[in-house]
Amino acid sequence: MEKISKLVLQGLTRSFGTTQALYDFNLEITGGAFVSLLGPSGCGKTTALNCVAGLLDLTDGSIILDGKPIHHIPAEKRGFGMVFQNYALFPHLTVFKNVSYGLENRRMSKAAIEQRVRWALDLVHLDLEDFGHRFPAQLSGGQQQRLAIARTIALEPHLLLLDEPLSNLDTKLRNEMRIEIKALHQQLGLTTIYVTHDQSEAMSLSDVVVVMRTGHIEQVGTPQEIYNCPNSSYVADFMGYSNRIPVQIAGRDSSEWMVKTDTGVMLRASSNFVGSVDWKEGDHVVAVARPDDLLADPLPTMNHMSGTVHLVDYVGKSFEILVRLEGAETLQLLVSSQTPTDLEQPLRFGIRPNRLLLFPVDAAHPITRPRAKLREASIR
Ligand SMILES: Nc1ncnc2c1ncn2[C@@H]1O[C@H](COP(=O)(O)OP(=O)(O)OP(=O)(O)O)[C@@H](O)[C@H]1O
Ligand SMILES: [Mg+2]
Repeated sequence: MEKISKLVLQGLTRSFGTTQALYDFNLEITGGAFVSLLGPSGCGKTTALNCVAGLLDLTDGSIILDGKPIHHIPAEKRGFGMVFQNYALFPHLTVFKNVSYGLENRRMSKAAIEQRVRWALDLVHLDLEDFGHRFPAQLSGGQQQRLAIARTIALEPHLLLLDEPLSNLDTKLRNEMRIEIKALHQQLGLTTIYVTHDQSEAMSLSDVVVVMRTGHIEQVGTPQEIYNCPNSSYVADFMGYSNRIPVQIAGRDSSEWMVKTDTGVMLRASSNFVGSVDWKEGDHVVAVARPDDLLADPLPTMNHMSGTVHLVDYVGKSFEILVRLEGAETLQLLVSSQTPTDLEQPLRFGIRPNRLLLFPVDAAHPITRPRAKLREASIR
């Protein structure tokens, strides 16, 4: 399989009438990398993938593969393989024929084709003897998904494009297939662009995560960078920083910002914000934190808060607790070591200053209270 060294996507822009589905999309992909495009529905993930595949023309921008512009080359000549979200299998062809179809006009001998089909099906753990003669309708969802991957891999593409390949599968199968896709990537070292709206899928599979928002890139980084240092409240929200508290800047003390909640609680947040921020006292910002960073039994060095326990939800291994701060803010905590009967009322909890992140208020991404719609519930 021919390997690519570098794929450069430069200012990719694609409009549909007045809708800019993709604009100024810039990304450098190193050969062998697993890159995920992550973002909510309608943010332009499929458009980006289709532009790279050559299934959509660019309105502007260029695609450079190993130094050569390829955006004018038709899809079938790019040597890329696409796995579509709905698999797009040929329903009237057997499993064998689905895989061999693309090989038949390649001047390969019958024996070579059979060998390649067997190799591709083996990679996704479909046995040719058991499955070769079946039709797609006689396969489970997971098997159809494997077949779609095998069919693409059989063509030995030098870039693999996958558009939400796991979205039709149930949770258990999703997790199994995720591990298989990762193993396949490790085995073949195939440069891969993977589209998903599932942050945990993107994190576990990728070398690089690209977070998208309304047609453009909001942040690019390793899973650890995106998870620990999101560069906006939008990315933070996507990465599970579901606790969002509106606060005002109250001052700065060497490495920390002091902020004040609506009800006057002072909190410290470390100023490890990416880029420089010139906030002044009184500026409105948003403080965000992950549920697993809010800790019951806080240490003295932490920010201390307290609130009324509002709901306790057993989510397996840990309890998710909704705490209402004085005022109206509802925060989520994940508590693994305590049983709900241990909980004092009001509950004191804390957060390390370096796990409370501050961001400018984003008018296009307003603060929504977590689980605001949950009805009142009491604990026993
Ligand atoms: N053929 C088209 N004609 C007009 N508008 C389109 C077309 N294809 C996509 N769009 C618009 O472009 C934007 C991006 O669409 P796209 O399919 O790339 O989103 P997506 O991130 O893949 O979403 P999803 O997660 O729902 O698949 C959307 O606003 C969509 O309505
Ligand atoms: Mg899509």
